Amino acid sequence: MTPTVLITGGGSKRGIGRATALRFAALGYAVAVLDLDDAGAEETAREATTAGSPAVFAAHVDVTDQSSVTAAVRAAEAALPPVTVLANIAGISSPTRFENITLEEWERIFAVNVRGTFLVTQAVLPGLRERGYGRIVNMSSVSGQRGGGVFGASHYAASKAAILGLTRTLARETEGQGITVNAVAPSMVDTDITQGAMTEERKAELAATTLLGRLATPADVAGTIVFLASPDASYLTGATIDVNGGSHLH
Ligand SMILES: NC(=O)c1ccc[n+]([C@@H]2O[C@H](COP(=O)([O-])OP(=O)(O)OC[C@H]3O[C@@H](n4cnc5c(N)ncnc54)[C@H](O)[C@@H]3O)[C@@H](O)[C@H]2O)c1
Repeated sequence: MTPTVLITGGGSKRGIGRATALRFAALGYAVAVLDLDDAGAEETAREATTAGSPAVFAAHVDVTDQSSVTAAVRAAEAALPPVTVLANIAGISSPTRFENITLEEWERIFAVNVRGTFLVTQAVLPGLRERGYGRIVNMSSVSGQRGGGVFGASHYAASKAAILGLTRTLARETEGQGITVNAVAPSMVDTDITQGAMTEERKAELAATTLLGRLATPADVAGTIVFLASPDASYLTGATIDVNGGSHLH
């Protein structure tokens, strides 16, 4: 049967979600792209068809809103073969220093990054359990491991640390069900998540903090997500894969 990947945050033109969708598409997966940005999601779906996906689906979702998530996941499940892989990629960041974070901004970061991962996973998981097979990949960040230091500040770092706790607990709670749950923790990837707020000078500084002398690309992260869904990763669960160019060691 055709494997199916459901990707949130797949609409961003230069983002990790689109790169991931295209990698799965090239491997013959059916691809469901859900994003706040419907036009972007549709463009990714078109590109996924060109890349080799046998069936695609795109829809608007606000991952912070339970009814929006339920509707989008149900529509994806109706349109495509059963979901085998869930990639929770939708996320937002902000560099606001701790003393200036409003309650609203704190809640917004947690709503998208943590509540979103919770809601989408809760909507997809029953189907994976029923079929006795699933691969879930969540997006953390070096910021969640080290306490910021890249772009996102304390609220972002705390939300990405929360993703690690969620990932590990879910790995335990899916024990014996044919499901693995892992996280990816990239360092700086040059995408539009910074909304133009990062200077070329700062990017060069960050590249110099890695052992490989460059920032990560969306393809670097997409390749790791595809690996976590592959048979070669079947003994990995509850793991965090560092995609950081060795920057912890620098
Ligand atoms: N870029 C980096 O340096 C980096 C590093 C580590 C981790 N990450 C994580 O990787 C993920 C993807 O980041 P990216 O750099 O590709 O960002 P991006 O901004 O290019 O893409 C994020 C996507 O999420 C979507 N999104 C935002 N809010 C949403 C919502 N409420 N509902 C549905 N979709 C929503 C956006 O529309 C966008 O398409 C994020 O979780 C981010 O925290 C990024």
